[in-house]
Amino acid sequence: TPPLRLGIAGLGTVGAGVVKIVRQKAALLAERTGREIVITAVSARNRDKDRGVPMGDYAWEDDPVTLATRDDVDILVELMGGSDGPAKAATEAAIAAGKDVVTANKAMLAHNGQALAMQAEKAGTVLRFEAAVAGGIPVVKALTEGLAGNEITRVMGVMNGTCNYILTRMEDGGLSYDAAFAEADALGYLEADPDLDVGGIDAAHKLAILSAIAFGTQVDFASVELEGIGAVSIDDIRQAADMGYKIKLLGVARMTGRGLEQSMAPCLVPATSPLGQLQGGTNMVVIEGDQVGQVVLRGAGAGEGPTASAVIGDVMDIARGLRISTFGQPAARLAQARPAKVATP
Ligand code: NAP
Ligand code: HSE
Repeated sequence: TPPLRLGIAGLGTVGAGVVKIVRQKAALLAERTGREIVITAVSARNRDKDRGVPMGDYAWEDDPVTLATRDDVDILVELMGGSDGPAKAATEAAIAAGKDVVTANKAMLAHNGQALAMQAEKAGTVLRFEAAVAGGIPVVKALTEGLAGNEITRVMGVMNGTCNYILTRMEDGGLSYDAAFAEADALGYLEADPDLDVGGIDAAHKLAILSAIAFGTQVDFASVELEGIGAVSIDDIRQAADMGYKIKLLGVARMTGRGLEQSMAPCLVPATSPLGQLQGGTNMVVIEGDQVGQVVLRGAGAGEGPTASAVIGDVMDIARGLRISTFGQPAARLAQARPAKVATP
């Protein structure tokens, strides 16, 4: 079998992490998939930046679209970020050129996931995005594979490492908001635009993607009821603690008679509960299914190693020959998230 050739667009926190794993664990990846996995080309904005890992072995492309369509690239690994712009252009170009795509880009998927998945299905290529939701926790695979025989009744959880880090450091470490924010930044947790994190938007992107998978609906980011952690003060956190509660940015999605209901907002949770005890950049996703009951997944939701781990898992699935859509069913068959409004006469 010929090697599986990766073109990596984006060499920041996650991209550099992926390069490190491919270099350091080449033998293990080949042994487990039966196929050698190699990087042939890379792209980022600044060619001269030190990435903490050698880049000299790989062809360099300034333009991620050119990278995505190279003859020696089988999979575009999109790790630039952004809902539109170069990430979407490179993804579309890769699909049009018959390449598979692995991405960690929840903003792109929350806004364009349906259209991209349909393009990929039409082209016969695979679009996988485990890393887009809850970092290193394999929650997408849990829903699309292990829990596929369930009707899901509710999905909820803490899905943004930055917010959980800030909230817990403010409470347990007595840090100011700014100091906790700076620590989260140093750990590589923040989005390029951190307003997406603290505004709850990043977590809402993830909830919208998970809802689509869990409930077989089209991604409906626009209908998520949304509030970030910007207005949560140290006093709020202390008052909650006095009453035995913690404040968490909590997402909840459930199917109702009126269609899919999704909310992402700061909530009080009992301090002694599993959600209340979640520290730092840890995420937790709770899935309720009609057959399985409740399943709780917990792990690192952000940062280099955990996110690269999820990206590599998707690449390995493709190396093994797995050709299923990450939405869990053909995107063309995903239902409307909300019933169409009936016009009143
Ligand atoms: P990052 O550190 O900001 O890295 C972004 C990379 O993309 C940089 O290497 C940047 O180049 C490159 N880039 C940006 N615009 C480009 C363009 N027009 N052409 C070529 N390259 C371009 O971001 P990150 O934290 O690694 O996140 C990457 C993606 O993973 C995002 O979609 C993010 O939402 C997602 N994600 C991140 C995490 C996390 O914990 N960080 C977790 C899950 C998912 P330069 O380095 O030259 O500036
Ligand atoms: N900025 C995101 C977070 C990265 O803090 O959770 C992981 O998706």
